[in-house]
Amino acid sequence: MALWGGRFSSQPEEAMFALSRSVHFDWRLAPYDLRSSLAHVAILQEKKIIDSDTGKKLEGALRQLQKEVVAGTFTAIDSDEDVHSALERGLKEKLGDVGGAIRAGRSRNDQVATDFRLYLIDHMIEIASQLLVVQKSIAQLAQQYVDAVAPGFTHLQHAQPVSFGHELAKHAHAFTRDISRIHDWLERANLSPLGAGALSGSSLPLDPEKSAANLGFSGVIENSIDAVMDRDFAAEALFIIALVGVHISRIGEEWTLWSSTEFGWAKLNDAYSTGSSIMPQKKNPDAAELARGKSGRFIGNLTGLLTVMKGLAFAYNRDLQEDKESVFDSVENLLLLLPAVSGMIATTSFDKSKMKAAAPLGFSLATEIADFLVKQSVPFSVAHEAAGSCVKLCESKAIELHQLSDEEFLSIHPKLTADVRALLNVDGAIAARTSPNGTAPSSVKKQLDTLNQTIATNSAWVASERRRFSGMMDQ
Ligand code: ARG
Repeated sequence: MALWGGRFSSQPEEAMFALSRSVHFDWRLAPYDLRSSLAHVAILQEKKIIDSDTGKKLEGALRQLQKEVVAGTFTAIDSDEDVHSALERGLKEKLGDVGGAIRAGRSRNDQVATDFRLYLIDHMIEIASQLLVVQKSIAQLAQQYVDAVAPGFTHLQHAQPVSFGHELAKHAHAFTRDISRIHDWLERANLSPLGAGALSGSSLPLDPEKSAANLGFSGVIENSIDAVMDRDFAAEALFIIALVGVHISRIGEEWTLWSSTEFGWAKLNDAYSTGSSIMPQKKNPDAAELARGKSGRFIGNLTGLLTVMKGLAFAYNRDLQEDKESVFDSVENLLLLLPAVSGMIATTSFDKSKMKAAAPLGFSLATEIADFLVKQSVPFSVAHEAAGSCVKLCESKAIELHQLSDEEFLSIHPKLTADVRALLNVDGAIAARTSPNGTAPSSVKKQLDTLNQTIATNSAWVASERRRFSGMMDQ
Protein backbone atom coordinates (compact mmCIF):
# COMPACT_ATOMS: atom_id res chain seq x y z
CA MET A 1 0.00 0.00 0.00
CA ALA A 2 1.51 3.31 -1.04
CA LEU A 3 1.70 6.15 1.46
CA TRP A 4 1.27 8.70 -1.29
CA GLY A 5 -0.70 8.92 -4.51
CA GLY A 6 -2.96 12.01 -4.42
CA ARG A 7 -1.00 13.79 -7.09
CA PHE A 8 -0.23 10.73 -9.19
CA SER A 9 -2.32 9.47 -12.08
CA SER A 10 -0.71 6.06 -12.36
CA GLN A 11 0.72 3.36 -10.13
CA PRO A 12 4.47 2.70 -10.26
CA GLU A 13 5.65 0.32 -12.96
CA GLU A 14 6.41 -3.15 -11.70
CA ALA A 15 10.13 -2.61 -12.25
CA MET A 16 9.98 0.68 -10.36
CA PHE A 17 8.13 -0.89 -7.46
CA ALA A 18 10.55 -3.82 -7.35
CA LEU A 19 13.46 -1.40 -7.18
CA SER A 20 11.79 0.73 -4.57
CA ARG A 21 10.71 -2.11 -2.31
CA SER A 22 12.71 -2.63 0.87
CA VAL A 23 10.30 -4.50 3.12
CA HIS A 24 12.10 -7.81 2.56
CA PHE A 25 15.06 -6.42 4.48
CA ASP A 26 13.76 -3.49 6.52
CA TRP A 27 11.14 -5.66 8.21
CA ARG A 28 13.81 -6.08 10.87
CA LEU A 29 12.91 -2.53 11.93
CA ALA A 30 9.29 -3.47 12.69
CA PRO A 31 9.58 -3.67 16.51
CA TYR A 32 11.40 -0.33 16.61
CA ASP A 33 8.94 1.28 14.20
CA LEU A 34 6.02 0.22 16.38
CA ARG A 35 7.76 1.49 19.49
CA SER A 36 8.54 4.88 17.93
CA SER A 37 4.96 5.07 16.62
CA LEU A 38 3.68 4.60 20.17
CA ALA A 39 5.87 7.49 21.34
CA HIS A 40 4.59 9.62 18.46
CA VAL A 41 0.93 8.81 19.18
CA ALA A 42 1.43 9.69 22.84
CA ILE A 43 2.56 13.20 21.84
CA LEU A 44 -0.16 13.63 19.21
CA GLN A 45 -2.70 12.80 21.87
CA GLU A 46 -1.16 14.83 24.66
CA LYS A 47 -0.91 17.89 22.43
CA LYS A 48 -4.48 17.33 21.24
CA ILE A 49 -3.36 17.04 17.63
CA ILE A 50 -5.59 13.96 17.59
CA ASP A 51 -8.55 13.46 19.92
CA SER A 52 -8.20 11.01 22.77
CA ASP A 53 -10.55 8.48 21.19
CA THR A 54 -8.32 8.34 18.08
CA GLY A 55 -5.23 8.24 20.29
CA LYS A 56 -6.55 5.29 22.28
CA LYS A 57 -7.55 3.42 19.14
CA LEU A 58 -4.12 3.96 17.57
CA GLU A 59 -2.35 2.91 20.74
CA GLY A 60 -4.47 -0.22 21.06
CA ALA A 61 -3.90 -1.17 17.43
CA LEU A 62 -0.14 -0.55 17.69
CA ARG A 63 0.07 -2.74 20.79
CA GLN A 64 -1.92 -5.41 19.02
CA LEU A 65 0.44 -5.17 16.04
CA GLN A 66 3.41 -5.53 18.38
CA LYS A 67 2.02 -8.88 19.51
CA GLU A 68 1.15 -9.99 16.01
CA VAL A 69 4.59 -9.07 14.65
CA VAL A 70 6.27 -11.07 17.42
CA ALA A 71 3.92 -14.00 16.83
CA GLY A 72 4.45 -13.78 13.08
CA THR A 73 0.72 -13.41 12.44
CA PHE A 74 1.16 -9.97 10.91
CA THR A 75 3.76 -9.94 8.15
CA ALA A 76 4.57 -7.91 5.08
CA ILE A 77 2.76 -8.70 1.85
CA ASP A 78 3.85 -8.29 -1.75
CA SER A 79 2.24 -4.90 -2.19
CA ASP A 80 3.99 -3.37 0.85
CA GLU A 81 6.82 -1.07 -0.09
CA ASP A 82 8.65 -0.85 3.20
CA VAL A 83 8.21 -1.63 6.87
CA HIS A 84 6.59 1.73 7.53
CA SER A 85 3.93 1.31 4.86
CA ALA A 86 3.32 -2.32 5.89
CA LEU A 87 2.66 -1.32 9.48
CA GLU A 88 0.45 1.58 8.44
CA ARG A 89 -1.52 -0.91 6.36
CA GLY A 90 -1.85 -2.97 9.53
CA LEU A 91 -3.24 0.05 11.40
CA LYS A 92 -5.70 0.80 8.62
CA GLU A 93 -6.83 -2.82 8.47
CA LYS A 94 -7.70 -2.56 12.14
CA LEU A 95 -9.01 1.00 12.30
CA GLY A 96 -9.96 2.10 8.78
CA ASP A 97 -9.08 5.70 7.93
CA VAL A 98 -8.38 6.45 11.61
CA GLY A 99 -5.16 4.43 11.13
CA GLY A 100 -3.85 7.19 8.87
CA ALA A 101 -4.09 9.76 11.69
CA ILE A 102 -0.69 8.62 12.93
CA ARG A 103 1.05 10.29 10.05
CA ALA A 104 0.47 13.82 11.36
CA GLY A 105 3.75 15.60 12.07
CA ARG A 106 5.88 12.69 10.97
CA SER A 107 7.54 11.61 7.73
CA ARG A 108 9.16 8.33 6.84
CA ASN A 109 12.38 10.33 6.78
CA ASP A 110 12.49 11.01 10.51
CA GLN A 111 10.75 7.70 11.16
CA VAL A 112 13.33 5.54 9.41
CA ALA A 113 16.21 7.44 10.98
CA THR A 114 14.64 6.89 14.41
CA ASP A 115 13.95 3.20 13.85
CA PHE A 116 17.41 2.58 12.50
CA ARG A 117 19.04 4.22 15.51
CA LEU A 118 16.90 2.16 17.88
CA TYR A 119 17.77 -1.03 15.99
CA LEU A 120 21.48 -0.29 16.15
CA ILE A 121 21.47 0.76 19.79
CA ASP A 122 19.76 -2.51 20.68
CA HIS A 123 22.17 -4.60 18.61
CA MET A 124 25.38 -2.79 19.53
CA ILE A 125 24.56 -3.46 23.18
CA GLU A 126 24.18 -7.14 22.28
CA ILE A 127 27.50 -7.04 20.44
CA ALA A 128 29.19 -5.51 23.49
CA SER A 129 27.69 -8.27 25.61
CA GLN A 130 28.99 -10.99 23.26
CA LEU A 131 32.41 -9.34 23.17
CA LEU A 132 32.51 -9.67 26.93
CA VAL A 133 31.86 -13.40 26.61
CA VAL A 134 34.79 -13.66 24.18
CA GLN A 135 36.97 -11.65 26.56
CA LYS A 136 36.07 -13.92 29.45
CA SER A 137 37.01 -17.00 27.45
CA ILE A 138 40.36 -15.41 26.57
CA ALA A 139 41.02 -14.32 30.16
CA GLN A 140 40.28 -17.82 31.46
CA LEU A 141 42.49 -19.47 28.88
CA ALA A 142 45.28 -16.97 29.54
CA GLN A 143 45.06 -17.73 33.26
CA GLN A 144 45.73 -21.41 32.53
CA TYR A 145 48.86 -20.61 30.55
CA VAL A 146 50.46 -17.82 32.59
CA ASP A 147 53.35 -20.11 33.54
CA ALA A 148 53.62 -21.75 30.13
CA VAL A 149 56.44 -20.41 27.99
CA ALA A 150 56.49 -19.96 24.26
CA PRO A 151 58.49 -18.12 21.66
CA GLY A 152 57.27 -14.57 21.15
CA PHE A 153 57.38 -13.35 17.58
CA THR A 154 57.98 -10.21 15.59
CA HIS A 155 57.94 -10.46 11.79
CA LEU A 156 56.82 -14.07 12.39
CA GLN A 157 60.41 -14.77 13.49
CA HIS A 158 61.35 -15.86 17.00
CA ALA A 159 62.00 -12.67 18.95
CA GLN A 160 61.96 -13.18 22.72
CA PRO A 161 60.31 -15.86 24.82
CA VAL A 162 57.04 -14.91 26.51
CA SER A 163 54.50 -16.25 28.93
CA PHE A 164 51.87 -17.85 26.71
CA GLY A 165 49.17 -16.39 28.95
CA HIS A 166 50.56 -12.95 28.07
CA GLU A 167 50.37 -13.84 24.37
CA LEU A 168 46.75 -14.95 24.64
CA ALA A 169 45.60 -12.09 26.87
CA LYS A 170 46.66 -9.44 24.35
CA HIS A 171 43.56 -10.26 22.28
CA ALA A 172 41.26 -9.39 25.16
CA HIS A 173 42.74 -5.90 25.39
CA ALA A 174 41.80 -5.15 21.79
CA PHE A 175 38.20 -6.03 22.68
CA THR A 176 38.32 -3.71 25.69
CA ARG A 177 38.98 -0.88 23.26
CA ASP A 178 36.13 -2.08 21.03
CA ILE A 179 33.73 -2.07 23.97
CA SER A 180 34.89 1.39 24.90
CA ARG A 181 34.23 2.44 21.30
CA ILE A 182 30.66 1.12 21.59
CA HIS A 183 30.31 3.09 24.82
CA ASP A 184 31.42 6.33 23.12
CA TRP A 185 29.38 5.55 20.02
CA LEU A 186 26.25 5.22 22.14
CA GLU A 187 26.74 8.71 23.53
CA ARG A 188 26.62 10.14 20.01
CA ALA A 189 24.04 7.75 18.53
CA ASN A 190 21.55 8.07 21.35
CA LEU A 191 19.81 11.17 19.98
CA SER A 192 16.36 11.28 18.47
CA PRO A 193 15.57 12.43 14.93
CA LEU A 194 11.82 12.30 15.66
CA GLY A 195 10.07 15.61 15.05
CA ALA A 196 12.34 16.51 12.14
CA GLY A 197 9.52 15.52 9.77
CA ALA A 198 10.56 15.31 6.15
CA LEU A 199 13.39 17.81 6.73
CA SER A 200 12.27 21.07 8.25
CA GLY A 201 10.59 20.17 11.52
CA SER A 202 6.88 20.59 12.08
CA SER A 203 4.34 23.36 12.45
CA LEU A 204 2.35 21.10 14.74
CA PRO A 205 2.96 21.53 18.48
CA LEU A 206 4.92 18.29 18.87
CA ASP A 207 7.25 17.73 21.79
CA PRO A 208 10.39 16.12 20.35
CA GLU A 209 12.20 16.23 23.71
CA LYS A 210 9.43 14.26 25.30
CA SER A 211 9.19 11.65 22.56
CA ALA A 212 12.99 11.33 22.67
CA ALA A 213 12.89 10.69 26.41
CA ASN A 214 10.00 8.30 25.94
CA LEU A 215 12.17 6.25 23.57
CA GLY A 216 15.21 6.30 25.85
CA PHE A 217 17.19 8.79 23.77
CA SER A 218 19.27 11.25 25.74
CA GLY A 219 18.20 14.20 23.59
CA VAL A 220 17.04 15.47 20.23
CA ILE A 221 19.19 16.11 17.13
CA GLU A 222 19.48 19.86 16.96
CA ASN A 223 19.13 20.44 13.23
CA SER A 224 16.15 18.78 11.53
CA ILE A 225 17.91 18.59 8.16
CA ASP A 226 20.89 16.88 9.75
CA ALA A 227 18.49 14.60 11.64
CA VAL A 228 17.03 13.07 8.47
CA MET A 229 20.25 12.75 6.51
CA ASP A 230 22.78 11.81 9.18
CA ARG A 231 23.95 8.22 9.01
CA ASP A 232 27.20 8.73 10.91
CA PHE A 233 25.84 6.48 13.64
CA ALA A 234 25.53 3.66 11.11
CA ALA A 235 28.94 4.27 9.55
CA GLU A 236 30.57 4.43 12.98
CA ALA A 237 28.85 1.21 14.01
CA LEU A 238 30.11 -0.46 10.83
CA PHE A 239 33.60 0.81 11.58
CA ILE A 240 33.44 -0.62 15.09
CA ILE A 241 32.24 -3.94 13.68
CA ALA A 242 34.95 -3.88 11.00
CA LEU A 243 37.61 -3.31 13.63
CA VAL A 244 36.17 -6.04 15.85
CA GLY A 245 36.33 -8.22 12.73
CA VAL A 246 39.98 -7.30 12.19
CA HIS A 247 40.73 -8.21 15.80
CA ILE A 248 38.91 -11.52 15.44
CA SER A 249 40.72 -12.21 12.17
CA ARG A 250 44.00 -12.08 14.06
CA ILE A 251 42.73 -14.68 16.49
CA GLY A 252 41.64 -16.74 13.49
CA GLU A 253 45.08 -16.47 11.90
CA GLU A 254 46.94 -17.40 15.09
CA TRP A 255 44.64 -20.34 15.81
CA THR A 256 45.07 -21.54 12.24
CA LEU A 257 48.86 -21.32 12.47
CA TRP A 258 49.04 -22.84 15.94
CA SER A 259 46.91 -25.82 14.92
CA SER A 260 49.05 -26.55 11.84
CA THR A 261 51.37 -29.55 11.84
CA GLU A 262 54.33 -27.18 11.61
CA PHE A 263 53.48 -25.39 14.86
CA GLY A 264 51.53 -28.19 16.50
CA TRP A 265 50.82 -26.06 19.58
CA ALA A 266 47.03 -25.91 19.56
CA LYS A 267 44.59 -28.75 19.72
CA LEU A 268 41.18 -27.59 18.56
CA ASN A 269 38.15 -29.22 20.03
CA ASP A 270 36.35 -31.49 17.56
CA ALA A 271 33.21 -29.45 18.13
CA TYR A 272 34.90 -26.44 16.51
CA SER A 273 36.66 -28.26 13.66
CA THR A 274 35.55 -29.95 10.49
CA GLY A 275 36.78 -32.90 8.47
CA SER A 276 37.50 -33.32 4.80
CA SER A 277 35.27 -35.28 2.44
CA ILE A 278 38.29 -36.84 0.74
CA MET A 279 41.20 -36.78 3.19
CA PRO A 280 40.24 -38.84 6.23
CA GLN A 281 43.08 -37.54 8.40
CA LYS A 282 42.05 -33.88 8.08
CA LYS A 283 40.85 -31.80 10.99
CA ASN A 284 40.39 -28.30 9.70
CA PRO A 285 40.25 -25.13 11.81
CA ASP A 286 37.14 -23.82 10.02
CA ALA A 287 35.92 -21.73 12.94
CA ALA A 288 39.26 -19.92 12.97
CA GLU A 289 39.24 -19.51 9.21
CA LEU A 290 35.70 -18.13 9.17
CA ALA A 291 36.72 -15.81 12.00
CA ARG A 292 39.46 -14.55 9.71
CA GLY A 293 37.27 -14.50 6.61
CA LYS A 294 34.27 -12.62 7.99
CA SER A 295 36.40 -9.52 8.47
CA GLY A 296 36.42 -9.12 4.68
CA ARG A 297 32.68 -8.58 4.47
CA PHE A 298 32.69 -6.26 7.50
CA ILE A 299 35.25 -4.01 5.86
CA GLY A 300 33.31 -4.22 2.58
CA ASN A 301 30.07 -3.21 4.30
CA LEU A 302 31.73 -0.18 5.89
CA THR A 303 33.20 0.87 2.56
CA GLY A 304 29.82 0.35 0.89
CA LEU A 305 27.95 2.57 3.32
CA LEU A 306 30.54 5.35 3.26
CA THR A 307 30.31 5.32 -0.51
CA VAL A 308 26.50 5.61 -0.38
CA MET A 309 26.78 8.56 2.02
CA LYS A 310 29.46 10.37 0.06
CA GLY A 311 28.36 13.42 -1.91
CA LEU A 312 24.69 13.36 -0.83
CA ALA A 313 23.37 16.90 -1.03
CA PHE A 314 20.84 18.61 1.20
CA ALA A 315 18.62 16.35 3.31
CA TYR A 316 17.08 12.91 2.77
CA ASN A 317 17.82 11.24 -0.55
CA ARG A 318 16.50 7.85 -1.51
CA ASP A 319 20.09 6.64 -1.78
CA LEU A 320 19.82 6.36 1.98
CA GLN A 321 17.60 3.32 1.65
CA GLU A 322 20.86 1.60 0.69
CA ASP A 323 22.15 2.17 4.22
CA LYS A 324 20.44 -0.80 5.80
CA GLU A 325 21.48 -4.09 4.23
CA SER A 326 25.17 -3.59 4.93
CA VAL A 327 24.36 -2.81 8.56
CA PHE A 328 22.05 -5.82 8.96
CA ASP A 329 24.64 -8.02 7.29
CA SER A 330 27.47 -6.88 9.55
CA VAL A 331 25.41 -7.02 12.73
CA GLU A 332 23.98 -10.45 11.97
CA ASN A 333 27.25 -11.96 10.84
CA LEU A 334 29.11 -10.63 13.85
CA LEU A 335 26.46 -11.99 16.20
CA LEU A 336 26.79 -15.33 14.42
CA LEU A 337 30.55 -15.24 14.70
CA LEU A 338 31.10 -14.15 18.29
CA PRO A 339 29.60 -17.20 20.07
CA ALA A 340 31.58 -19.52 17.78
CA VAL A 341 34.78 -17.61 18.51
CA SER A 342 34.27 -17.68 22.26
CA GLY A 343 33.42 -21.39 22.08
CA MET A 344 36.48 -22.13 19.96
CA ILE A 345 38.74 -20.24 22.36
CA ALA A 346 37.27 -21.79 25.49
CA THR A 347 37.72 -25.34 24.17
CA THR A 348 41.25 -25.11 22.74
CA SER A 349 44.16 -26.71 24.56
CA PHE A 350 47.83 -26.05 23.98
CA ASP A 351 50.86 -28.34 24.12
CA LYS A 352 52.98 -26.71 26.82
CA SER A 353 56.03 -28.89 26.29
CA LYS A 354 56.10 -28.24 22.56
CA MET A 355 55.87 -24.49 23.11
CA LYS A 356 58.56 -24.65 25.78
CA ALA A 357 60.89 -26.59 23.50
CA ALA A 358 60.41 -23.99 20.77
CA ALA A 359 60.91 -21.03 23.11
CA PRO A 360 64.74 -20.78 23.06
CA LEU A 361 65.09 -21.61 19.36
CA GLY A 362 66.08 -18.99 16.83
CA PHE A 363 68.49 -17.46 19.39
CA SER A 364 65.56 -15.81 21.09
CA LEU A 365 67.69 -15.22 24.20
CA ALA A 366 70.28 -13.04 22.44
CA THR A 367 68.80 -9.91 24.02
CA GLU A 368 69.70 -11.37 27.43
CA ILE A 369 73.38 -11.23 26.46
CA ALA A 370 73.09 -7.59 25.43
CA ASP A 371 71.22 -6.71 28.64
CA PHE A 372 73.88 -8.55 30.71
CA LEU A 373 76.58 -6.34 29.19
CA VAL A 374 74.52 -3.18 29.64
CA LYS A 375 74.31 -4.00 33.34
CA GLN A 376 78.17 -4.01 33.30
CA SER A 377 78.08 -0.43 31.91
CA VAL A 378 78.72 -1.44 28.30
CA PRO A 379 76.89 0.93 25.90
CA PHE A 380 73.90 -0.83 24.35
CA SER A 381 75.16 -0.44 20.78
CA VAL A 382 78.37 -2.27 21.72
CA ALA A 383 76.44 -4.87 23.72
CA HIS A 384 74.10 -5.42 20.76
CA GLU A 385 77.11 -6.01 18.45
CA ALA A 386 78.61 -8.49 20.92
CA ALA A 387 75.35 -10.43 21.26
CA GLY A 388 75.11 -10.48 17.46
CA SER A 389 78.63 -11.94 17.27
CA CYS A 390 77.58 -14.69 19.69
CA VAL A 391 74.67 -15.57 17.38
CA LYS A 392 76.99 -15.57 14.35
CA LEU A 393 79.45 -17.88 16.07
CA CYS A 394 76.64 -20.23 17.15
CA GLU A 395 75.26 -20.31 13.62
CA SER A 396 78.66 -21.24 12.19
CA LYS A 397 79.02 -24.04 14.76
CA ALA A 398 75.33 -25.07 14.64
CA ILE A 399 74.97 -24.75 18.41
CA GLU A 400 72.74 -22.77 20.80
CA LEU A 401 73.89 -19.71 22.77
CA HIS A 402 74.25 -21.49 26.10
CA GLN A 403 76.60 -24.01 24.44
CA LEU A 404 79.30 -21.37 23.77
CA SER A 405 82.37 -21.93 25.93
CA ASP A 406 83.62 -19.43 28.56
CA GLU A 407 86.57 -18.62 26.31
CA GLU A 408 84.36 -18.00 23.34
CA PHE A 409 82.18 -15.58 25.34
CA LEU A 410 85.27 -13.72 26.59
CA SER A 411 86.78 -13.59 23.13
CA ILE A 412 83.71 -11.74 21.94
CA HIS A 413 83.73 -9.21 24.80
CA PRO A 414 85.97 -9.08 27.88
CA LYS A 415 82.99 -8.39 30.15
CA LEU A 416 81.07 -11.38 28.82
CA THR A 417 81.89 -13.68 31.71
CA ALA A 418 80.55 -17.18 32.28
CA ASP A 419 77.84 -15.68 34.56
CA VAL A 420 75.92 -14.81 31.42
CA ARG A 421 75.06 -18.46 30.95
CA ALA A 422 72.72 -18.31 33.95
CA LEU A 423 70.57 -15.86 32.02
CA LEU A 424 70.40 -18.02 28.94
CA ASN A 425 67.34 -19.91 30.02
CA VAL A 426 63.83 -19.18 28.99
CA ASP A 427 62.21 -19.15 32.43
CA GLY A 428 64.81 -16.75 33.77
CA ALA A 429 64.46 -14.42 30.80
CA ILE A 430 60.70 -14.35 31.18
CA ALA A 431 60.72 -14.00 34.96
CA ALA A 432 63.07 -11.01 34.65
CA ARG A 433 60.61 -8.97 32.59
CA THR A 434 58.73 -7.61 35.55
CA SER A 435 57.72 -4.26 34.07
CA PRO A 436 53.97 -3.77 34.76
CA ASN A 437 53.08 -4.61 31.15
CA GLY A 438 55.83 -7.22 30.86
CA THR A 439 55.76 -10.94 30.35
CA ALA A 440 56.96 -12.11 33.80
CA PRO A 441 54.25 -14.37 35.21
CA SER A 442 54.04 -12.10 38.27
CA SER A 443 53.24 -9.15 35.97
CA VAL A 444 50.88 -11.14 33.76
CA LYS A 445 48.87 -12.24 36.80
CA LYS A 446 48.38 -8.61 37.80
CA GLN A 447 47.44 -7.70 34.23
CA LEU A 448 44.84 -10.46 34.25
CA ASP A 449 43.43 -9.17 37.54
CA THR A 450 43.02 -5.73 36.00
CA LEU A 451 41.53 -7.25 32.86
CA ASN A 452 38.99 -9.19 34.92
CA GLN A 453 38.05 -6.01 36.78
CA THR A 454 37.56 -4.19 33.48
CA ILE A 455 35.40 -7.05 32.23
CA ALA A 456 33.30 -6.85 35.41
CA THR A 457 32.87 -3.07 35.09
CA ASN A 458 31.92 -3.34 31.43
CA SER A 459 29.53 -6.21 32.16
CA ALA A 460 27.72 -4.03 34.68
CA TRP A 461 27.50 -1.24 32.12
CA VAL A 462 26.15 -3.55 29.41
CA ALA A 463 23.60 -5.03 31.81
CA SER A 464 22.35 -1.60 32.82
CA GLU A 465 22.13 -0.39 29.20
CA ARG A 466 20.27 -3.52 28.26
CA ARG A 467 17.81 -3.09 31.14
CA ARG A 468 17.31 0.54 30.21
CA PHE A 469 16.76 -0.25 26.55
CA SER A 470 14.45 -3.20 27.01
CA GLY A 471 12.53 -1.20 29.61
CA MET A 472 11.92 1.43 26.95
CA MET A 473 10.91 -1.15 24.36
CA ASP A 474 8.43 -2.71 26.79
CA GLN A 475 6.66 0.55 27.54
N1 ARG B 1 12.30 2.96 2.89
C1 ARG B 1 12.84 4.26 3.02
C2 ARG B 1 14.31 4.21 3.48
O1 ARG B 1 14.71 3.18 3.90
C3 ARG B 1 12.07 5.04 4.01
C4 ARG B 1 12.10 6.50 3.78
C5 ARG B 1 11.41 6.82 2.53
N2 ARG B 1 11.30 8.23 2.36
C6 ARG B 1 10.95 8.76 1.21
N3 ARG B 1 10.90 10.04 1.17
N4 ARG B 1 10.67 8.04 0.15
O2 ARG B 1 15.05 5.15 3.44
